[in-house]
Amino acid sequence: MTAPTTPSAPIDPTSTDAWASLEAHNLELTGSLREWFDADPERAQRFSADAADLHVDLSKNLVTAETLELLQQLAREVGVEAHRDAMFAGAHINTTEDRAVLHTALRRPAGASPALEIDGQQIDEDVHETLQRVYDFADSVRSGEWTGVTGKRIETVVNIGIGGSDLGPVMVYEALRPQAQDGLSARFLSNIDPTDAYETTRDLDPETTLVIVASKTFTTQETLTNARLVREWLLQGLRENAGLTVEQEQEAIAKHFVAVSTALDKVEAFGIDPKNAFGFWDWVGGRYSVDSAIGTVLATVLGPDTFEELLAGFHAMDEHFATAPAEKNVPLLMGLLNIWNVNFLEAETHAVLPYSQYLHRFPAYLQQLTMESNGKATRRDGSLVTTETGEVFWGEPGTNGQHAFYQLIHQGTRIIPADFIAFATPNHALADGEQDVHELFLANFFAQTKALAFGKTAEEVRAEGTEGALVAAREFSGDRPTTSIMAPKLTASVLGQLIALYEHITFVQGVVWGINSFDQWGVELGKQLAKGLAPAVAGDEQAISSEDSSTSALIRYYHEHRQQG
Ligand code: F6P
Repeated sequence: MTAPTTPSAPIDPTSTDAWASLEAHNLELTGSLREWFDADPERAQRFSADAADLHVDLSKNLVTAETLELLQQLAREVGVEAHRDAMFAGAHINTTEDRAVLHTALRRPAGASPALEIDGQQIDEDVHETLQRVYDFADSVRSGEWTGVTGKRIETVVNIGIGGSDLGPVMVYEALRPQAQDGLSARFLSNIDPTDAYETTRDLDPETTLVIVASKTFTTQETLTNARLVREWLLQGLRENAGLTVEQEQEAIAKHFVAVSTALDKVEAFGIDPKNAFGFWDWVGGRYSVDSAIGTVLATVLGPDTFEELLAGFHAMDEHFATAPAEKNVPLLMGLLNIWNVNFLEAETHAVLPYSQYLHRFPAYLQQLTMESNGKATRRDGSLVTTETGEVFWGEPGTNGQHAFYQLIHQGTRIIPADFIAFATPNHALADGEQDVHELFLANFFAQTKALAFGKTAEEVRAEGTEGALVAAREFSGDRPTTSIMAPKLTASVLGQLIALYEHITFVQGVVWGINSFDQWGVELGKQLAKGLAPAVAGDEQAISSEDSSTSALIRYYHEHRQQG
């Protein structure tokens, strides 16, 4: 089978009947969350849905049943379902790069039927063959069969990558770190700031360090520079500590460096033995790649079983997205709610607030997923978008955020929709005397969405004995939209479900806006200019003078203040 054809040009969402109805509905919408909850005791049940192990309560959003129906009509009119099916089937929906978008194929179970064959490639076979190679490698490191060049067991795996080749692995590692094998840990090196390479390696023993160079393209300046820095650090350390000779360098690289990339020729050119390289394919976007061989660091440190469980979680959410009816399809509903919030209620940002310390890198991960995908002003056919797109995603784990920026969410002038995420069972149950600390934690989780939804009226403030100007300061308007996501426990499967949930939410928004969520041309200009500025930064006076006055003055400032050594 060749790739199915690309779906038709985008339908302008603002030209649909649903959009016009939503605009009218927005003007007519009266009442408040307090009133809506009072009027409908079933509101929470009515506006909740389960997706795999996730229980999602949408009831504290600024919507009525009619809003949700109109949003589903919008999805039908712009063809979300057809586009979703085209993605799963391997159509080249990444139009600017003429590629299929098949991250969902990375988590199809072995033997899934019918087998996926796209553009002449047996996708399932290739995915599972690579996974098996990754698992074999992981097992050999975990068992101690794979050693460093001096025969010592590997204790630290350093993943060098950036963007999707870093954010996914580091987020998952942090989320599931209790499952790391004893005596084995991971570190992540991404920034080209030399401080990052220095701090990552300074207390490591080269003899027990294994490096994974992870780069889809294997051309990324940061990753290749860091890989060279770490290679030099490793060889120098081995020379000094273990008497490594020049003749043994090749073997040392083979025992301490592996790579993950779609460009295996470039891996070899870098000096890494191709038999120590794990591939993936151009139909996996960088920010959608944590479940590909880019997760080799995870399979190695957390173990193949954990990685398999993560993949199963992803797949469970894919199945839900592909098959659940629209009115209970959580990624669809959450994507449409984001459209409502951005395009009708004029929200500019979206907070993601995990009540789980282990998810502390989840908001940073989501920033690439959502903002690199949907931060665009042109549509799939090159025409300009007709609405606002791509809201800013941000967040910190609760309860830390409560003591930092929640003030603005509760009482500021802007509407900030927020997703609250929590788990019924803690990873570590601790008691403060008689007090179960997880219960204190969850009480905060429940309290925040309640306060944001229902607020506190002036009357209620006065009833507590407050008078005068202080009343307004202590009043809470309420009607601040939130979604609550709960699961039994933060497991690898639940984490996979959460990631896939947000992948599909992002997809839904992209389809409504008519944009290609799978390219990232917006990162290119800066990269290109950074290369062109190298002579000026290196001190070439003619190059400095040819820059604009701001850039040349900044470069001169650098030269005047740079201390050597
Ligand atoms: O600069 C953006 C980007 O292309 C991301 O999309 C990608 O995740 C990251 O760079 C890293 O790219 P690579 O894996 O090819 O090194």
